[in-house]
Amino acid sequence: MIYQDTINKIMDTSRIEEVVGDFVSLKKRGTSLIGNCPFHNEKTPSFHVSVTKGIYKCFGCGKGGDSVHFIMDHEKYSYPEALKYLAQKYNIEVEETEESPQVIEANNARESLYVVSLYAANYFANELWTGEQGRAIGLSYFKERGFREDIIKKFELGYSPDHWDALILSAAAAGHKEEYLEKTGLAIRNEKGKVYDRFRGRVMFPIHNFTGRVIGFGGRTLKTDKNVPKYVNSPESDIYHKSNVLYGLFQAKKAIRDLDNCYLVEGYADVLSVHQANIENVVASSGTSLTIEQIRLIGRFTKNVTILYDGDAAGIKASLRGLDMILEEGLNVKVVNFPDGHDPDSYMHKVGAGVFKTYIENNRKDFILYKADILLKEAGTDPIKRAGIIRDIVESIAKIPDEIKVSVFVRECSHLLQVSEHTLMTELNKMRNAKFKKGNQSNQGQQYQRPSANNQSFSAYPDGPPDNLFDDNAGPDLPEMEVVADDDLLQEHEIIRLLLAFGHELVSWDNIDNMYIGSFIMQNLSDVTFENEICKLIIQNYKEEIENGHLPVANQFITNENRKIADLAITLSTSPHSLSENWYNKHQIYVRDETVNLKATILGGLYHLKKKKVERLLLGLLQEIKAEPDPVNQDILMGKYAFMKNVEREISKFLGSVVIK
Ligand code: CTP
Ligand code: MN
Repeated sequence: MIYQDTINKIMDTSRIEEVVGDFVSLKKRGTSLIGNCPFHNEKTPSFHVSVTKGIYKCFGCGKGGDSVHFIMDHEKYSYPEALKYLAQKYNIEVEETEESPQVIEANNARESLYVVSLYAANYFANELWTGEQGRAIGLSYFKERGFREDIIKKFELGYSPDHWDALILSAAAAGHKEEYLEKTGLAIRNEKGKVYDRFRGRVMFPIHNFTGRVIGFGGRTLKTDKNVPKYVNSPESDIYHKSNVLYGLFQAKKAIRDLDNCYLVEGYADVLSVHQANIENVVASSGTSLTIEQIRLIGRFTKNVTILYDGDAAGIKASLRGLDMILEEGLNVKVVNFPDGHDPDSYMHKVGAGVFKTYIENNRKDFILYKADILLKEAGTDPIKRAGIIRDIVESIAKIPDEIKVSVFVRECSHLLQVSEHTLMTELNKMRNAKFKKGNQSNQGQQYQRPSANNQSFSAYPDGPPDNLFDDNAGPDLPEMEVVADDDLLQEHEIIRLLLAFGHELVSWDNIDNMYIGSFIMQNLSDVTFENEICKLIIQNYKEEIENGHLPVANQFITNENRKIADLAITLSTSPHSLSENWYNKHQIYVRDETVNLKATILGGLYHLKKKKVERLLLGLLQEIKAEPDPVNQDILMGKYAFMKNVEREISKFLGSVVIK
């Protein structure tokens, strides 16, 4: 258990923009920060971070929370794991009731896989630097290939001795269970039940997830024997999923974000060599062809990818298709290829770090033009082949979501292919139409669609959420996404929203003098019962605090340990609300900043709720009257009804006058 003091310290120190910023590239817009949501796939950013509130909120998929929630959600961590992650990030010492590594292993199987992987990485590194075999074979191999010690250390490279059970024995002695060695694939059990090390006599490349935890390994043989596979890799496990991992991302991510570009190479050795040339924004797809998950992973850090190819022409042609996928994700793709069949690794070691760096800076070509170039060379003068190329290139261009870029490419390719821009555009539109038809078919059944011109009402944000969504003063200038429910929920939410947003403002209106809005609202709610369970809890809580002489702050609810309360508080302090929106519209008043007319906002909120409650009462009475057989009782009910009807009228009148003022 982590002590509350430590938790408080972690919460106080964590800065949402830094915590989220490690995973999402954030740009300033208005007073908030925005980026592409890491929880769902999107090309236009709807993920907002409020620095002042310490929270994030995605208006696309609805996820939101504070720093701890973000880490829990993003890394699939438990609450204590997320706290520890933040503690580590901010160098906060975690005070907790003691637990031995064995207890942690027993408590959490997934965690155990991380623990045992980290153990193995340390073991392999130790063998490389201090083991007899490791130094003589492993370390000297890396040195012969020209890798510097700092690079070997930075990537935590290691050596696995050439025995059947070196790791197994060492791990057992350190108290790790064999079960986890098997589950991570570090050990293999054969049909006879014998367990042995997967990696034997190989140099080891630990693979990290992008928070830096070891999740798997690649092991390279030092033998030249063709029958021995060059690499043996960890199998898929609960913590290692090849298709969404990029080798080197952990070491590269800061540079990728800073330089707003990511170099993509094929192998482990290439990553090391490019790093050694002081280019740190480089990752590898590790042999497998690039997956959509890997592309999206890159897309979270930058929109610019530069592919460093080895010079082999067949290889390039085969990969051209795969690159269209990157275009489709809205990334800009450039390509560098190396002379004489070199790959980044061999070229770096041939020409040295300095020349290498200059070379890739001077030789990057835009992917589409590069592709056109290669295909044209191949086609020679054959007119049929050339026609095929045009279609091929246009197909790539059609994948680009950005219209401006499309028109630039159309112009450039028209020169290169010697066809008119018009011809290219016609071809492009044909392709798009075909794609559109296909897309429409597969889109059926989706709940929300981007609105078309005649279908505006579907989305609250036809052009994406507005800049000022997080402004503390942002006003009701947007309709709400929620379908208007036929109960009091909206009105109850509005009250909670007002408490959170304005509770601490001091006001003097009419016969009240210097009173907190929080207290004012609570006073006026004495005759109202909340229906919604969460609203009820918040109101109760608020009331109790006030009775104890303390005015609650929004953050108390936003970081509430009851996740439902926290979720609602976050949603209500970030989303535009519906109620006063309708009400302003009805009276045709456009007030962008609701604080300008704070009195109207607050009284409006209160009396809309009351009106709704009265309407409910009236409805109930009406039913009672209909069901009442006794004329005397009926009469009494009618009297009540008339009275309430009058109250309703008064409220409506009041609402009108408050707004008009
Ligand atoms: N790979 C693999 N299994 C193999 C061959 C390759 O998993 N049998 C993956 C590895 O991730 C490797 C990448 O494909 O890093 C690229 O292959 P290659 O260029 O052959 O490997 P390098 O890392 O460049 O290794 P080296 O230069 O030491 O040969
Ligand atoms: Mn290589």
